[in-house]
Amino acid sequence: MSRFKAAIFDLDGVIADTACLHFAAWQRLAQQEGFEIPGDADERLKGVDRMASLDIVLERTEPGRYSHEQKQELANRKNRHYQQLITMLTPQDMLPGAKTLLDQLTAWSVPMALASASKNAQAVLEGLGIAHQFQYIADAARINHPKPDPEIFLTAAAGLNLPPSECMGLEDAAAGVTAIKRANMFAVGVGDPKALAEADLIVASLEDFDAKTFFGPQA
Ligand code: BG6
Ligand code: MG
Repeated sequence: MSRFKAAIFDLDGVIADTACLHFAAWQRLAQQEGFEIPGDADERLKGVDRMASLDIVLERTEPGRYSHEQKQELANRKNRHYQQLITMLTPQDMLPGAKTLLDQLTAWSVPMALASASKNAQAVLEGLGIAHQFQYIADAARINHPKPDPEIFLTAAAGLNLPPSECMGLEDAAAGVTAIKRANMFAVGVGDPKALAEADLIVASLEDFDAKTFFGPQA
């Protein structure tokens, strides 16, 4: 009997090496607009939705510099820059260990879902050539409460028709790990142990995740 029946993945920073592309898109916007992005933004932008990310990158600008409508336009423009960058994604842009893990779980018929804050998740999965390996994608556009709220992970479990306690969630952002725990799932943190201390298990990358222990036929 396997310990868990399904795996629910965050995308950016867990499977896809896209954090640098999000950042490059914000930097292009900052250059166009002539503002400076805070030095610690790179880490803080992880897992944060588009408008909340914009608030972070604008922290160094004078308050009131942009109206609500202008902020919307800035976010849309950043998104166009990002969409241009992800057209170049290939299977080589998967993070270490991700391909092996997805292939193992597929071979063992373990259902997989995606719980990503990104509205570009489907395009990224297609660029990486792995869209067909997911049984359910929680649509970020329909989620009302961003991580650390558990809504997106609960939606993904419901999409797989499984109780959350039988699902494992995998995340690289602290807010994402909190969301998994609030959803009553086992949380695997991928990355910095200090930032992800709330996780039940922390690995430096998916290469270090021993899938057999949790999902293998003998688990
Ligand atoms: C998250 C990323 O997965 O998605 C964030 O970690 C990003 O950096 C967020 O801002 C929203 O992405 P998008 O593609 O909808 O702008
Ligand atoms: Mg992430």
